[in-house]
Amino acid sequence: MQVNNLINGQWVGADSGATFEVINPATDEVVARVPLGGSTETERAVSAAHDAWLKWRGTTANERASLIDKLAALMRRDADRLARLMTAEQGKPLAESRGEIAYAVSFLDWAAEEAKRIYGEIIPASAPNKRILVFRQPVGVCAIITPWNFPSAMITRKLGPALAAGCTVVIKPAEDTPLSAIALGELALEAGIPAGVVNIVTGDPRAIGGLLTSDQRVRKLSFTGSTEVGRLLMKQSSDNLLRLSMELGGHAPFIIFDDADMSRAAEAAMACKFRNAGQTCICANRFYVHESVHTDFVSRLSSAIGTLRVGDGTQEGVNVGPLINDEAITKVESHVADAREKGASVLVGGQRVRIKGLADRFYAPTLIDGMTADMRVHHEETFGPVAAVRSFRTEEEVVEWANSSQFGLAAYFFTQNASRLIRVAERLEYGIVGANDGGPSTVQAPFGGVKQSGFGREGGKYVMDEYTQLKYISWGV
Ligand code: SIN
Repeated sequence: MQVNNLINGQWVGADSGATFEVINPATDEVVARVPLGGSTETERAVSAAHDAWLKWRGTTANERASLIDKLAALMRRDADRLARLMTAEQGKPLAESRGEIAYAVSFLDWAAEEAKRIYGEIIPASAPNKRILVFRQPVGVCAIITPWNFPSAMITRKLGPALAAGCTVVIKPAEDTPLSAIALGELALEAGIPAGVVNIVTGDPRAIGGLLTSDQRVRKLSFTGSTEVGRLLMKQSSDNLLRLSMELGGHAPFIIFDDADMSRAAEAAMACKFRNAGQTCICANRFYVHESVHTDFVSRLSSAIGTLRVGDGTQEGVNVGPLINDEAITKVESHVADAREKGASVLVGGQRVRIKGLADRFYAPTLIDGMTADMRVHHEETFGPVAAVRSFRTEEEVVEWANSSQFGLAAYFFTQNASRLIRVAERLEYGIVGANDGGPSTVQAPFGGVKQSGFGREGGKYVMDEYTQLKYISWGV
């Protein structure tokens, strides 16, 4: 199957005709071929987005809300098809893909409402013959660069509020998972979103990113992906003083205090760690368990991991799919090997799972005990199904360990002591804290990190600040 890019309402290939393959990570089958676009195609998409913006910014909030609502309704109508497409290109189990489509739709639903709440203000002036009026206006053309781990939701989380604010967009999806983006583009056209408002370019990340960060008609870049690429984009954007939102890497601590509800903590740990085969920016990376409950926790986790089924995400009952590509599985292997060499014990898993007829990209859900601070699992994002445990003695010590990371996206802890709950939550240097909660992601909250995990917030009313800018009118009367 050959699919095309969306530029100015038209489905087009790369000028050169070149394409690249999208591979099903579970089976190695070629799912589709997509255009290998570059700077020329991206420049055309930016022109289309800019021309469209001149009209789109003048539409009413109700018009924009109604189009976003239509797009959401079409995603709901096609949820099963979109979920299957996602599993084919990304590998996550079908149930998770269905969950992601619902999550993706929730961002559109919310944005359609926010479109109607973009208010200005009138500020009392210091002179009797003046009035100060504050307007909130769309920033303009937005570049949206999204990752492969959530091929739909990371787009709608940006696209919904951008459209609601009156911005137009050029989307560059990840090379591994462009098909979910293209399917969204088809639905955007079907919903009646005007040509040029939503554009999608696939292909060479350097060339596309280079153009998006240097063309002065682009006024905003929202990026979700690695800290390394985020830094590069930020450097490239500096000449243009581009407004940026950066949702970057994480390295979440998951702390279990001696007074935790152990069954709740273990259940949350499983969901938080093994969702999407451990390939999320907010998944638990470092489990710190109080020494008095260490044996209990490790035994609960070992048993729960034993119930996970690894395999092709289209198969009923599979909970853990493949890793996205060969590089990803090699990285997971190297983290486990490094932990072993430095003295950790691998209690469960610790090797690839080879399944007849499938690709060699499945890694066994793994539990490592005896993690120490010098291990790679302790400070680098593993992005795989590996849970590593370290015991602690005091609250003081564990909060210090938790904050010792360069990252600051999500942190989790479990306690039944209300004073400790507030004390620890306040001291954790993270943008998102799950207190007795392993799944804090939700549409109404300000998702985002601090330190090397980036800046900017996505979700709820907060995201509207990212796509709007203030202007005031000093009005002499
Ligand atoms: C991510 O961590 O990659 C995004 C996950 C989410 O929104 O829950």
